[in-house]
Amino acid sequence: MDFNLSEEQLMIQQAARDFAQNELFPEVIERDRDQKFPTEQVKKMGEMGLLGMMVDPKYGGAGMDSVSYVLAMEEIAKIDASAAVVMSVNNSLVCAGLEKFASEEQKVKYLTPLASGKVIGAFALSEPEAGSDATSQKTTAEDKGDYYLLNGIKNWITNGGTASYYIVIAQTDPEKKHKGINAFIVERGWEGFEVGVKEDKLGIRGSDTHSLIFNNVKVPKENRIGEDGFGFNFAMAVLNGGRIGIASQALGIASGAYELALKYAKTRKAFKTEIINHQAIAFKLADMATQITAARMLCFKAACEKDAGKDISESGAMAKLYASQVAMDTTIEAVQIHGGYGYVKEYHVERMMRDAKITQIYEGTSEIQKIVISRSIAK
Ligand code: CAA
Repeated sequence: MDFNLSEEQLMIQQAARDFAQNELFPEVIERDRDQKFPTEQVKKMGEMGLLGMMVDPKYGGAGMDSVSYVLAMEEIAKIDASAAVVMSVNNSLVCAGLEKFASEEQKVKYLTPLASGKVIGAFALSEPEAGSDATSQKTTAEDKGDYYLLNGIKNWITNGGTASYYIVIAQTDPEKKHKGINAFIVERGWEGFEVGVKEDKLGIRGSDTHSLIFNNVKVPKENRIGEDGFGFNFAMAVLNGGRIGIASQALGIASGAYELALKYAKTRKAFKTEIINHQAIAFKLADMATQITAARMLCFKAACEKDAGKDISESGAMAKLYASQVAMDTTIEAVQIHGGYGYVKEYHVERMMRDAKITQIYEGTSEIQKIVISRSIAK
C-alpha cells in the first residue's frame, strides 16, 4: 500500500475540504435542528463529481479511485455527516452496484443521471422485520411474465424522500430462500409506489430517511438487475463497498470532532494554563489522534483492495467496525473536553456525537461486521 497521496488525490481532498467549509458549514446547525435536507449543497456536490466519484466518465461519473473517495468522504463528513451519507449511498450502494451489475441499457438510462448527480438514488433492503437478518425479505416481487408485481414495505431508507430511482430488494420465490431474491430498479412516481413517513432521528437529521410502500407496483422485467435470483448476492456485494463509504463517514465525524477538541484545548484555560497542558486532556487527544490514524489506514486498505479488484468483504467490514467505534469514542471525548460548551449546539460536537451513533448501525451493525470478519478469518 502506497502511503503517499498523488497530486490528484490531494487536489480532490482540498476541493472537498473547501466545499465543506464554504457550502456545508454555514447552516449545518440549522439543518440538524430543522431536519432540513441540504438540497442546494447536494446539487453542487453532483456538479463537482462527488456523487458518482468512481463511475466511468462514459456513464457520467468522475472516474476516480476509491482512495480519493475516502478522502472526499472524510472531508464532507467532518463538517456535515448528513450530506456525507447522501453521498455515500449514491456512490457506493447505488452507482457502484449499477456500474458493476446492471445491463448496458440500465446503465445508460439510470446510472448516467445518477452518477452525474442530476438525480439521486436510494437502496431499499431493510424492512420492519428484516434488518440484520437480511435474507428474511417480506417484500414480494411476483413474476407475472413481462413484469413483476411488487408488494411490501421498506424501512429506514436513506434518500427515501428525495431519490428519483430506487434499488429495491424483494423475494420472488420464497422456497428458494435467498436464491429466490431479486433486485429491481424502481422509479419514483410509478403507480402504487408511495414514499411513507419521514423518520425523526437522533442524528444525521439533515438526511432524509423514509419508509417506502409498494402496493401492486408493476416493475418491467428489464428493470431486474442481473439473473433471476441474483438479488441477495447483489445486495451483499454492494454492501461490502458501501461499508467503505460509511467507514469514511465515521472517520470524518471522528476527525472533525478531534480537530475541534484540539483547537479548544489549545485556547481554553483552566487552573492558569491551556487545558492541553493538563495530562488528563492531552492523553485523551493522544488516544484520539492514534485511533483516527488507525481508522484512516483501514479505510485506505479497503479502498486499495477494492481498486485492485480483491474481495473486500473482510477489509470493508474491519474498516467500518473500527472507524464507527472510533467515531463514537472520539465524539464522546470531544464533548467531555469541551465541558459545558460541548453540551450546547453552537460548539458542534454534541451533533457529531449524535451523528456518530448511526455508523455503528446502518449498512450492517457492528455485530454483523463481526459475523462477516469472523466467517472470513475462519475460512
Ligand atoms: N459478501 C459477499 N457475499 C456475501 C457476504 C458478503 N459480505 N455475506 C454473505 N454473502 C453471501 C454468501 O456467500 C451466500 O451466498 P451463496 O449462497 O451464493 O454462497 C449468501 O450471501 C447468504 O449468506 P449467508 O448464508 O451467510 O447468510 P446469513 O443469513 O447467515 O448472513 C449476513 C448474512 C452477513 C448476516 C447478511 O444478512 C448481512 O450482511 N446482514 C446485514 C444487512 C445490512 O448490512 N443491512 C444494511 C441495510 S442498507 C443501509 O443501511 C443503507 C443505508 O440507508 C445507509
